[in-house]
Parts: sequence; C-alpha cells; structure tokens
Amino acid sequence: MTQIIAHRGASKYAPENTMPAFELAYRMKAEGIETDVQLTKDNIPVLIHDEHVKRTTGHSGYVKDYTFDELSQLDAGSWFSDEFAGTSIPSLEEFLKWIIDKPLELNIELKNSKIDYSNIEKIVYEMVEHYKLLERTTLSTFNHESVKRLKPINETIGVALLTSRKRKDLADYAKILGANALHVKYRLINKALVQQCKQGDLALRVYTVNKPSHMMNCFLLGCDGIFTDVPNTALMYRSIL
Ligand code: G3P
Ligand code: MG
Repeated sequence: MTQIIAHRGASKYAPENTMPAFELAYRMKAEGIETDVQLTKDNIPVLIHDEHVKRTTGHSGYVKDYTFDELSQLDAGSWFSDEFAGTSIPSLEEFLKWIIDKPLELNIELKNSKIDYSNIEKIVYEMVEHYKLLERTTLSTFNHESVKRLKPINETIGVALLTSRKRKDLADYAKILGANALHVKYRLINKALVQQCKQGDLALRVYTVNKPSHMMNCFLLGCDGIFTDVPNTALMYRSIL
C-alpha cells in the first residue's frame, strides 16, 4: 500500500515545518512526516525549508548566520495566518522527542544542495540514533555527494536520492550512490521507473502530490509513498481504491 507522508507536516492547513503542522498531520492519521533540515551558526539542526529566513519569518538573513537562540525568537507562523502567530522554527531535537511515542515514519530531508553544511549527515544521524528512531527514518537529499557520505555511516539506515531530473538509468544510478530509496518529482514517474525500482529493491516515493488524479496514479502504479500537503485528502482517496 502506498504510504501517505505529510509534506512539511500538513502544510496546506498550518505553517510548514512547524509543530502545529506536524501535530495536524498526526491527527489526520498520516503515516509519515517529511521535514527539511538546515544548520544554524552553532550547528543546531532546525526544521526550515529555505536557506534564508525571509519567506517564512519576514526577517532577513540566512539560517546559517543565526544562532539557535536568535532563530527561536522569530515568528514562523504569522506569514501563514494570524491564527499561528508566535509559532517558532522547531529544532530537529524537539521534533524527534515529539514523534517518539507516535506511530509515524520519518523522512528527514537534508537541505544541503545549495549550502553544503559541513558534517550535517553525521549531526542528523547521531541525533536520530540517540532517540532510537533509526528503524523508521529515511534521510534524503538532492545532493549526490551527500548520499555517498550517508551510506557508510550506517549500512542499514534508509537513504534516499531526491531528484526532479530525468535520466534513463535513474534507479541504477541511485543504487551506485548508495541509496536504498528514490524520491522523485511527480512528472518522473511511469511504469518503467516503478519496475526498475522494484528490480533494484529501491523504495520509490513521489513528491509533491496534491491533486487527486495524481494521487490515484501513484496508488495504481504501486509507488511506495507519496509526499502531500493534504494527507487527509490522500487518505480519503486511497480508502476508496
Ligand atoms: O522530500 C520531498 C520534497 O520535500 C522535496 O522538495 O523542495 O519540497 O523540499 P522540497
Ligand atoms: Mg522537503
């Protein structure tokens, strides 16, 4: 069955990558949560999609130039709606502590393709290991070199190559890098790719799937998971298959 993974939490209904968005995804009965990680100036992994804080806080500057304490003062909820005023950017640790007692899979996306944060793979891995969440975690990245660095850290952890680019040998290529999953943009999926991933024993998950017709297509093709801003809608459509 195709897993329903809340993209940045239930991000259609609450500000992306915040605790209210994760809480809502959990209450909607999503089966997993996808979130994005950047590093602060003092090397604290935090959950925010952009390298820059402008879009979701209205302030200027890069995440990497804020200490965690400084970043925590910013309001990452008001841009979405007044209802969420005062919501802060969570740390990865806060998220992991919250998820421990919930039956949710984790997809932690390392946002290291624009800024290649030094050691982000180990920093995130060690925190996930500390909270004993390795078994239900996949680490993903668009950065091919980072995929290569992840594999030797632990041979059994889920590692996904993220891509929006077409290439014929995509499944083989992902395996060569050391990935055991492929996370692709919706326009890349077709029967052939599903087949190649099955043969290569690679999990295939698709982003960002918000339209019911696209959801149905992923379900019928037998994709392993979809990332969606509307987990409630996806669950409803999956239930009527
Ligand atoms: O991990 C799937 C998806 O989140 C990748 O793209 O830009 O939404 O982080 P983006
Ligand atoms: Mg992401």
